[in-house]
Amino acid sequence: MRFALITGGTSGIGLSFARALARDGASLVLVARDRARLDAVADELRGAHGVPVETLVADLAERDDQARVAKRLGAGDIDTLVNNAGFSLKTPLVGGDDALADAAYEVMGRAPRVLASAVAPAMRERGEGWIINVVSVSALTRQDSYSALKAYALALTEVLALELTGTGVNVTAVLPGWTRTEFHSRGGSGRKGVPGFLWLDADRVTEVALADARAGHVISIPSKRYKVAAAVLQLLPNAAVREVSRRIKGKTKTPSEGAVS
Ligand SMILES: NC(=O)c1ccc[n+]([C@@H]2O[C@H](COP(=O)([O-])OP(=O)(O)OC[C@H]3O[C@@H](n4cnc5c(N)ncnc54)[C@H](OP(=O)(O)O)[C@@H]3O)[C@@H](O)[C@H]2O)c1
Repeated sequence: MRFALITGGTSGIGLSFARALARDGASLVLVARDRARLDAVADELRGAHGVPVETLVADLAERDDQARVAKRLGAGDIDTLVNNAGFSLKTPLVGGDDALADAAYEVMGRAPRVLASAVAPAMRERGEGWIINVVSVSALTRQDSYSALKAYALALTEVLALELTGTGVNVTAVLPGWTRTEFHSRGGSGRKGVPGFLWLDADRVTEVALADARAGHVISIPSKRYKVAAAVLQLLPNAAVREVSRRIKGKTKTPSEGAVS
């Protein structure tokens, strides 16, 4: 992991990836929409670790911007891609905000696919590379449109891992549970109803994810409690998963909505 491109590398889990990789001496390309924030993070990382940091302003909800980031990946120097950019999606499937649901698909569904397919050929040729997709443990539930989208992202990651088996390119889906970042405040869902012991620290999520990716694991679930929850969800019949999802959604509901992220 010597040259990494991280989408959403300016906040939360993406920023933790950026800091951890810079600490290990990797050169970085950071992608996000907010230019001032990108510059501030790049300055911090160059100052703290002396590594080169490139920034790319891009809105991954826009296909032209996805194509610009894909073009940068096509240069062939990136050995680690972290598809992390994302946001909370609380809109219902029926009668909800279709434009927001479309944007969420572009950022958390289409962009990871397009960026992975742009970077994989050079990685395969070198016989080495890491593609890390930040998904969510909610991919194993059926709570809402966000969990449906993350289920797609999880399936996509596993299919990509299968396609690239034996090439030296490692593909890993990271499945965090509730993690303290700006995600919840930005999404307007707050944190009410979620017991304290369920909250994860972004640095810990990243530490486990990088260790799992280096070890070639396809699925990375940070923390024992979420590993157990994931194992149970995977053993249950679909009808039981739907019932558990209904209960989680009910328990975590706040005045402005809320479900497991
Ligand atoms: N926090 C949780 O509880 C949790 C749990 C499970 C999974 N996740 C997943 O973890 C990932 C990171 O979330 P986080 O919790 O770290 O959230 P966060 O603190 O809000 O950070 C989100 C990052 O994504 C970037 N971003 C958002 N929309 C973008 C767009 N349209 N184009 C380009 N960049 C965009 C943001 O930068 P700009 O705003 O400047 O673009 C920011 O750098 C997401 O995929 C999320 O679904 C989070």
